[in-house]
Amino acid sequence: MILVTGGAGYIGSHVTRDMLVKGYKVAVLDNLSTGHLEAVDKRAIFIFGDIGDERLLEQVFKRFPIRAVMHFSSSCLVGESVRNPMKYYQNNVEKTIRLINKMLAHQITRLIFSSTCATYGIPTGTVLTEDHGLHPINPYGRSKLMIETILKDLSESNGLHYVSLRYFNVAGAHPSAEIGEDHFPETHLIPNVLQHLQGKTKEVSIFGGDYHTPDGTCVRDYIHVCDLSDAHILALEYLVQSNLVSDIFNLGNERGYSVLDIIKSCEAITNRQARVKVLPKRFGDPPLLVASSEKIRNVLGWIPKHNLEQIIRTAWNWHEKHPEGFPK
Ligand code: UFG
Repeated sequence: MILVTGGAGYIGSHVTRDMLVKGYKVAVLDNLSTGHLEAVDKRAIFIFGDIGDERLLEQVFKRFPIRAVMHFSSSCLVGESVRNPMKYYQNNVEKTIRLINKMLAHQITRLIFSSTCATYGIPTGTVLTEDHGLHPINPYGRSKLMIETILKDLSESNGLHYVSLRYFNVAGAHPSAEIGEDHFPETHLIPNVLQHLQGKTKEVSIFGGDYHTPDGTCVRDYIHVCDLSDAHILALEYLVQSNLVSDIFNLGNERGYSVLDIIKSCEAITNRQARVKVLPKRFGDPPLLVASSEKIRNVLGWIPKHNLEQIIRTAWNWHEKHPEGFPK
């Protein structure tokens, strides 16, 4: 059985569903602070609670035959992390240490960790490889880097085996449109643009129009949530098959799109017109983040199947089918 922390969240719910389809048994641990019970596949065991609750973790690890942990639950907003860093150090660092400590106490030594390209900071070239320097420019990136550092140390001394996946910008929804992105408040670009095109907001804010990028707006690498999910399952198989590995992989599509590119693509796909307003830069935003995913393609055989159009189309289907998101 695989324990999925944060399995009621956007990414965790997609991976849970895919693992169940592949025949894995899954237990989801989630405090529903940002996740949705309705997003959790009914075939999974659902445990309501917090990863920082050591008594609960003790019970979970005693009761269920957990072979590996996929750890999604964390705070993950760059802007919020700048305003409220302690939330990030408590949720992402302190509680993760408690989780790993309990895992090791129960001889559970396999972990898939949700990391981020925000660990890199400002890129020195046009494409980021895993060996690029790590100089995060926001507390979110620093909190994830702290855990990566801890994982490396534990892999050398405590028998922990981990795969850390450095996500670029995850978007899109399950092709069934039964699960998708539902954050409150929503801060991510693609859902913000689509919700605006549904008439929910007056305009789309563009945070910064004078970056040193081709059109002056930030460039990001968007990856479909189902491609991301495939990579998690490959990483799990890699950990289960080999008892000795630990590794770090980027997860992106290797293509950069600016904020304006995204708005134009959303307009074309929905056949609607957006109203935009350029606002000051958001603190903590690097101008450009584009992945090299060569390593994960070569080592795990990962092949992303969705381009930007499919990312936006599946996200749009989800928003059209669930204009209010999951039932509240
Ligand atoms: N942006 C806008 N307007 C919006 C929302 C976003 O202009 O309404 C801009 C942002 O300033 C940024 C880009 O669009 O330049 C993408 O912003 P998102 O908020 O969608 O995503 P981030 O890049 O800030 O962060 C996301 C995840 C992080 C992850 C990161 C990797 O939230 O967890 O991608 O780049 F680390």
